[in-house]
Amino acid sequence: MPSVANCVMQRLYRRDIWRDFKPRQNNAEEVQGWNGNHPSLRRLVSSSSSGTNVVVDVGVWKGQSTITMANAMKAAGIDGCVIAVDTFLGSPEHWSMGGDLFERANGRPDLYETFLDNVALANLTDYVVPVPQTSVTAARILRGLGIKAAIVHIDAAHEYEEVIRDAEEYWEILSAGGYLVGDDYDQSWGGVVRAAGVFSAKVGLPLTIEPPKWILRKVDA
Ligand SMILES: C[S@@+](CC[C@H](N)C(=O)[O-])C[C@H]1O[C@@H](n2cnc3c(N)ncnc32)[C@H](O)[C@@H]1O
Repeated sequence: MPSVANCVMQRLYRRDIWRDFKPRQNNAEEVQGWNGNHPSLRRLVSSSSSGTNVVVDVGVWKGQSTITMANAMKAAGIDGCVIAVDTFLGSPEHWSMGGDLFERANGRPDLYETFLDNVALANLTDYVVPVPQTSVTAARILRGLGIKAAIVHIDAAHEYEEVIRDAEEYWEILSAGGYLVGDDYDQSWGGVVRAAGVFSAKVGLPLTIEPPKWILRKVDA
């Protein structure tokens, strides 16, 4: 495990949570998700030179975006990790989609188990530290531990109030020069578009749009 990943793992859990982990199946399948393979994620991680090489992925679902960024880190030989934050309970739109997006054991989605399986089958356990928490609680836990991030990818709840609150909370732990990246800058997600614009104005920094990602670089305004 790279030393940065090991350090974050020990601070959060005092042990390597992957040590005795066995996925429920043997073969990796394509990881279902939304915009998690976007090229901007790969590019920003590969070219990241700021801070500690910690990436925080907020809203990870089954792991598509986490796996994309951890793979980029591994391929570039970066000593770092992706901290993967999610309740692993799904959002309202996922519960109303119907179909077979996830199993429900005892009424609880099996998204955390699926996420862990997908990371393990992608051979990325050395680069991924899960935090099964709400986005705000996780931000406060990380801040309390003094963990700073070079990149934060926000893709949790999509309502205006929640997106802007996530942007505010994670801006606090973003290193100078780091990137805040959000998903779903698209008219079908009006709350995301509004929150990105309001937050950009608040910090006085320009938004870069690489559809459907919105990106802010934390530099002195
Ligand atoms: C659109 S999915 C994330 C997709 C993922 N980035 C990918 O690459 O496929 C949104 C995720 O955010 C999580 N979520 C929603 N609200 C949350 C909150 N307040 N705190 C933590 N996770 C949340 C849901 O459980 C869901 O897994």
